[in-house]
Amino acid sequence: MQTLRTNPPKINRMSFVRDLRVIYNLAFAPKSGASHRERMEGFYGAQAEDYDDFRRRLLKGRRELMRSIPFPRNGTWIDMGGGTGSNLEYLGRRIGELKSVTVVDLSPSLLRIARERFRSRRWNNVHAVEADATSHVPSEPADVVTFSYSLTMIPDWFAAIDHAHKILKPGGIIAVVDFYVGRKFPAPHARRHGFATRFFWPAWFSIDNVFPSPDHVPYLQRRFGQISFSEHRGKIPYLAGLRAPYYRFVGKKAD
Ligand SMILES: C[S@@+](CC[C@H](N)C(=O)[O-])C[C@H]1O[C@@H](n2cnc3c(N)ncnc32)[C@H](O)[C@@H]1O
Repeated sequence: MQTLRTNPPKINRMSFVRDLRVIYNLAFAPKSGASHRERMEGFYGAQAEDYDDFRRRLLKGRRELMRSIPFPRNGTWIDMGGGTGSNLEYLGRRIGELKSVTVVDLSPSLLRIARERFRSRRWNNVHAVEADATSHVPSEPADVVTFSYSLTMIPDWFAAIDHAHKILKPGGIIAVVDFYVGRKFPAPHARRHGFATRFFWPAWFSIDNVFPSPDHVPYLQRRFGQISFSEHRGKIPYLAGLRAPYYRFVGKKAD
């Protein structure tokens, strides 16, 4: 009888060590500071080098969101709270078809990684700007504004959504992917989250100053015409069995 030989899975020591560093930072990095900017940089400064590898497995739905956006040729795109600029990779060569892309973030360490990326990709139409997503004013109105897992970290997220509305052209697109929890009594057709989900995830994420909210989606739906909305669950690395709720929203500013 033929025996099946299966090679034991190779443990990639380097990536495991990187993961340990990130997990240590998630649990123990300073999350306090006099200002929101200090809190962001205090949290991300020590994990900037390892950020992309771990978040690729944690922050689900970014690829699907970015690829679903109807970017106009020669359009302008602002990625608010864009961190290391990794979202741009999902567009590949289409980046070159845009007039400009701006990654706005408060963490200088993550923006340094973004700038290295842009240089190595030779994207000359792309900029990284240290600024607040609630107040950054671009040189011209934007065609597309995105937030990927940044709304939950912006204390005044109402202001961030209002500001995105303000800087978008008429007919401009907003696209968001983020963690959330549903309302106790959700809108018709929205998913209902049980007690444990509604209470566990906000408490868990708040340790890292991430605040999943039942109100982000209803507010986005109020301010923008909905093009698409979907609700999902995603695995958390090293936490077998736990799946955090996240959504994808694409909306349009009225013409
Ligand atoms: C979880 S990370 C997501 C980064 C990136 N969008 C991604 O998908 O990998 C949240 C990001 O939001 C940024 N951020 C938080 N508050 C911000 C604000 N008020 N203005 C600009 N960026 C902010 C943080 O510095 C951080 O880079």
